[in-house]
Amino acid sequence: MTFFVIANLKSHKTFSEMELWLKAVSPLAKKANPQIKVIVSPSYPYLQLAASRMPSAICSQDVSPFPPGSYTGAVNVVQLLDLGVKYSIVGHSERRQYFHETPMEVSNKIRELHDSDLIPILCLSKEDIAPQLATLEEEDKKNLLVVYEPPADIGGTEIAPIKDISKVVAIFKTEFPNVPILYGGSVNARNIQSIIGLVDGVLVGTACLDPVDFISLIQEVVK
Ligand code: PGA
Repeated sequence: MTFFVIANLKSHKTFSEMELWLKAVSPLAKKANPQIKVIVSPSYPYLQLAASRMPSAICSQDVSPFPPGSYTGAVNVVQLLDLGVKYSIVGHSERRQYFHETPMEVSNKIRELHDSDLIPILCLSKEDIAPQLATLEEEDKKNLLVVYEPPADIGGTEIAPIKDISKVVAIFKTEFPNVPILYGGSVNARNIQSIIGLVDGVLVGTACLDPVDFISLIQEVVK
């Protein structure tokens, strides 16, 4: 099974910083063990740049819940496809918290992505599971990646307790059968070994910002 390593660059980097990041990471990402899939999720303005360096590994951090049309500020699936995007994060806890995104909006985004054969990367906390499941159809629960992200453990240096991660991952595996289940929250090169056997990948924020840290993390997975 493929192990996913997803760099979520959030609202960081300028164009030239992104160029340097890609220059450092892309050679390793391309030649990394074929069982590892390194995916990069930059801000919207750098998607095309990233796609030119790491084709087939580009992820947006969000997507419009609407088709193309009069929705000021929204970036739709057709535009993402046009830029070479393959994946899109939906329902990240920062979107739910700061942008007041609802489970229904997240489900509409998943449907938009599926209609265009883009792969949703659905982020869920333990508390999000029930309300999110209530708005998902069976069809929506296929062809996606699901990430367990405990909001309290995001942005630090220690991952959530292994016992908690195993418990929640087991629930996710029942709710989303045959779907890769990832973990996100303070994953770095120092702690990744402890969860490699437990999940199908990781979503990395802080520890991907410096390409040197992110490369060390990838090297830990390849070991
Ligand atoms: P973190 O962020 O690695 O800084 O905890 C992960 C995420 O929010 O996706």
